[in-house]
This record gives sequence, structure tokens and C-alpha cells, in this order.
Amino acid sequence: MDQRGDEAKLRQIADELTDRLTEALPSWLEDIALQRVEEGGLPVDETLRRRIGDCARVVCEELSPRVRSVITADVDLAAGSPLAVLRDGLGPMDVLLDELGLPAPARDRMATEIFPGDTYDLGPASFADIHRDLRDVGIAWGAARAHVHRQRHGEGGVAAAGAVPGRPPFDRVLASVVDVEGWMTDDQARLLYDRAAELEPGGRMVEIGSFRGRSIIVVARAADAGVEIVAIDPHGGGDRGPREIAPDGTRGDEDHAVFMGNLVDAGVIDRVSHVRKMSDDAHGDVAGGVDMLYIDGAHRFGPARADIVAWGNRVRPGGTMLIHDSFSSIGVTLALVTTTFFGRSWRYVGRARSMAEFRRAELDPKARIVNGLRQVGQVPWFVRNVIIKVLITLKLTPLTRVLGHRGSDWPY
Ligand SMILES: C[S@@+](CC[C@H](N)C(=O)[O-])C[C@H]1O[C@@H](n2cnc3c(N)ncnc32)[C@H](O)[C@@H]1O
Repeated sequence: MDQRGDEAKLRQIADELTDRLTEALPSWLEDIALQRVEEGGLPVDETLRRRIGDCARVVCEELSPRVRSVITADVDLAAGSPLAVLRDGLGPMDVLLDELGLPAPARDRMATEIFPGDTYDLGPASFADIHRDLRDVGIAWGAARAHVHRQRHGEGGVAAAGAVPGRPPFDRVLASVVDVEGWMTDDQARLLYDRAAELEPGGRMVEIGSFRGRSIIVVARAADAGVEIVAIDPHGGGDRGPREIAPDGTRGDEDHAVFMGNLVDAGVIDRVSHVRKMSDDAHGDVAGGVDMLYIDGAHRFGPARADIVAWGNRVRPGGTMLIHDSFSSIGVTLALVTTTFFGRSWRYVGRARSMAEFRRAELDPKARIVNGLRQVGQVPWFVRNVIIKVLITLKLTPLTRVLGHRGSDWPY
């Protein structure tokens, strides 16, 4: 299909998504609010049902035109995410549930950090949360937008109209990923931003494990326009997050669509080349050496070690390797023990929580011992994290407070 045909197709998909979404919204909001009421142990009678139903209708009447304008906006406007518009607009339902005396449910740390205002966990994380039939049209919409954007600007071409010229300050970049799901804390984002900002034009950054784009958006917005940025993620729904190891095609396709949409929204779709493959199959898709490598893919020992060895070998002398879930995940930590702890090639610089930083260097025997001992020094923190995970798995989450942990999410 030619460009005009593709743009018309995008408009058609956007209209279809809007029509079906706005139709599904009121009953979804009513159902999720009633579900929270039941989970909170409040009795549900007709009066309460009517109040919640009325509130859902009013909220959705207000939200529908706003959602429509975001979904149908031109791709170059970087108008934002419709799911973010929805999450931001659910306040009146939160107020009603609060008035009804509903206690706030326990929320995991990621949800609390990313969506602090969503007290009752009402906000949808995907179109399929609103209605399962919206999944495919939502995926088609994300893919069509990314396609049209690439057609207009080409791979790595002109910066998107929504992109900020020059380097936006860190706070603005952080604010732009607040709605993008992921397991990257603010101080970890800061570390990524700083290292990406230091890359020279002509340099190359590779990320292994991109999920929905939270970390790669930070890198793409911080790095000079002359830096090549590659995101490797098979989006197969496996090795995805804490306790989400088995592959799941449906989940993976949804991650892929949301990832593409998030990159468009952030104005960086033309800055990032996505390789939809497992990291060990992707070597041929990246030419030459790497100046900054971020490893956050499969966290099991075998693949984590293979990423450090094979992709780490491609990092140029003086280059940076950052590894998420270091001294937190058992697989990643064992991979470090067998590679960086007493090896010759990586100087341990420090860490932002579980994001460890290494510099490629040739270490002499004395430097290797010092380097190894510095990493051994992180083992008590690792033991603490393993204990927290065991307590959470045994449903003894309150005991993790003794170790300074908050929430029911695994430490990262
Ligand atoms: C923890 S998430 C990455 C989070 C992301 N860095 C962020 O901050 O938003 C892990 C991702 O690794 C991907 N993954 C799993 N196995 C992989 C592999 N062998 N190669 C590359 N990516 C992989 C998963 O699909 C998942 O999206």
C-alpha cells in the first residue's frame, strides 16, 4: 500500500478503536469499581450499584472526547497515550469509593511509583484490560502508527516533531516515562541518562531487554542525535519480569504494540532500531563495537551470563556496561560471580540499587583483587534481597519491613 493508503488505514483503525473503546468504557469502569468494592468487603446493594453506575457514566462522558482526540491525533503531534488520559481521568470514581469508606487496597511498589494517584488500582494497563476484544485493534493501532511514522521520517531520519531539540533536562525525561510500565527506579533512570548523554556522535548504544520502552526512551532522549540506539527484545512474553518466565505469545504481542506506541508518544520512534529477536540471535543485526551496553533481558543464569560474555565482548575499551538486577536476582548475580567478579575485563564502578555499572578495562592482578573485593562487598545486600523475595513468596510481606523494604514487589 502507498503512503496515502497507509495513512487512511491508520485513520480507519483509529476510528474503530475509538468507537469500540468508548462504547466499552462505562461498563468496564462500573465493573472494576464494583469489583474493588466487593474485594474491600463492603456490601453491594442497589443504591450503591446506582451510584457507581451513574459516576461511571459521568466520568466516561467526560473522558470519551479526550480519548478520541488522542487516538485520532496525527502521529507527529506526540499527543500522549490514551491509557494515560484514562488513568488521569478516573479521579471522581476514586473520590466516590473513598466516600463509601472503601479501604485502599495493598498495591505493589511499581504500581504505586508509576501511578501514585490511582489509589484503588482502577487504571487499565492495556486496552485488553478494558475489554478483551480491544486487544487486536489496539495492537493494530500501535503498529499502524509506528509504520506511518517511519514512512514519513524513515529509519533514523528526521527527529519527530514531538522530540525536544537538544537534550531535555533529566526531570522532563523522567516525567515523560512516568506512564510507561517497567522496573526502572528514578536513580537508575538518572544513571542511564548520564551515561547516554556522555556518548559521542557516531557511538552506539545497545539495550538487551526493552519491555515497553521505559529505559530505552530515557536513553534515546538523553543521547546525541548522532548516536545509534538499538533495542533488542523478542517480545515473546517470556523472561519478562519478576516471576514471569514462561513465554506467552499474547502477552508478548501486547508488549510489542505498547512498546511501539510508547516510542511514538515519546517522539523517539525514529531514534531506536528495534531488533525483535533473542539477544543471542541478534549479533548479526548490530554492526561493529558498542559504547554503552545495558543488559536487562533474561535473568536466568545461562542467558544472563551469555549476554555479559558475548555482548560484553563487543563493548569497546573504556565503554560502559550496565546490568539490571545485579545483586538482586540469583541468576544475574551468579553470572556476575563467574564473569566480572575476578575477571580481567570489567572494572566495577558502583550501582544504583540493582543497576550495576562496569567500565571495560584491562585490569592487572592487583586491580583484579580490589575489583573482586568491591563486588564481594555487595553480597550482604544480595542476601538481604534474596531473604525479601523468600518472605514475599511465603506471603510474609509485612516482615520485609524489618529489612527496610516497602510494598509487595520484589526488590530491584
Ligand atoms: C525486565 S524487562 C526489561 C525492562 C526494560 N529494560 C525497562 O526498563 O523498561 C525484560 C525484557 O527482556 C526481554 N527478554 C527476555 N529474554 C530475552 C532475550 N533472550 N533477549 C532479549 N530480550 C529478552 C523480555 O521480553 C522483557 O521484555
